[in-house]
Amino acid sequence: MTDPAPLILSASPCDLARAATLLAKGALVAFPTETVYGVGADARDGHAVAAIYTAKGRPAFNPLIVHVPDAATAQRYGVWSDMAEALSTAFWPGALSLVLPLRKDHGLSGLVTAGLESVALRVPAHPAAHALLHAFGGPVAAPSANPSGRISPTTADHVLHGLGHKVAAILDDGPCAVGLESTIVGLTGQPTLLRPGGISAEDIEAVMKTPLQSAEHGRISAPGQLASHYAPRASLRLNVTQPRAGEVFLGFGEMSCDLNLSAHGDLAEAAANLFDHLHRLDATERAIAVAPVPDTGLGVAINDRLTRAAAPR
Ligand code: TXA
Ligand code: MG
Repeated sequence: MTDPAPLILSASPCDLARAATLLAKGALVAFPTETVYGVGADARDGHAVAAIYTAKGRPAFNPLIVHVPDAATAQRYGVWSDMAEALSTAFWPGALSLVLPLRKDHGLSGLVTAGLESVALRVPAHPAAHALLHAFGGPVAAPSANPSGRISPTTADHVLHGLGHKVAAILDDGPCAVGLESTIVGLTGQPTLLRPGGISAEDIEAVMKTPLQSAEHGRISAPGQLASHYAPRASLRLNVTQPRAGEVFLGFGEMSCDLNLSAHGDLAEAAANLFDHLHRLDATERAIAVAPVPDTGLGVAINDRLTRAAAPR
């Protein structure tokens, strides 16, 4: 028997209430955040969280980010610190996830943290995500709403094509403004950049007034750190100035190409376009060549995703 097609919901108060009811029943609901679309479940409900792993085909050792409406709620799950206070004040709601020591009385399903002694927490800024978290009134575990290892979703359509009938509902509120997943900072020891993302390391360091440590090489503490991730079906070549015959060309800056991340060379615009353009080029089933993208600011996260998309699988 096949699952029914997902309900496509809007960000109206009535549809948000329906989405919250589905979450409370243990169903999976995909919803927009300003970074990418997430596939959400009640983070306290082990069955619901297990369904996320099944829907994504996600390796069980990859823990999930817990989404909460505000910093006060985050403090119920993670051990708070001066640095958590400083970073949350500066960047929440927004594209930052903080990995904090897990509180003893957290009440979250062990599957959410994949058995770790820490928990990733995020307060998203997207109004629909925020309204859904308020309506639901509990912590929502939500990885990006794509099959594990594939290109992340920045539209409801991407979610429908990637996960389709594996979710109960998709809340469609248009394309994501940032387009790159949240930056993940570990605060279980020295502040560490676990994943570059929608907020640049420079902006975070400006608040911390000290440099971020870089993540321990080779240790998988985030699936974004798996060598092959964010992968299109066809092969992908980076730093290309002259595409080969048969390749589709993803440009950056003023140039002739099939799709351009940003004709003006604007890195924020390139980040917002990255996954959507990769989805479009992937649909051509041709090999993809990508022009060089400067490795500064948001370009670091863009190049991180591109390098993993190009990695041997
Ligand atoms: O922007 C985002 O962060 C999106 C939206 C939906 O919020 N979510 C997202 O989730 O990108 P996901 O599951 O695709 O990536 C979450 C990352 C993973 O790399 C995971 O390993 C890491 O967070 N993570 C979660 N808990 C962790 C922990 N306790 N310690 C270290 N890394 C953790
Ligand atoms: Mg992901």
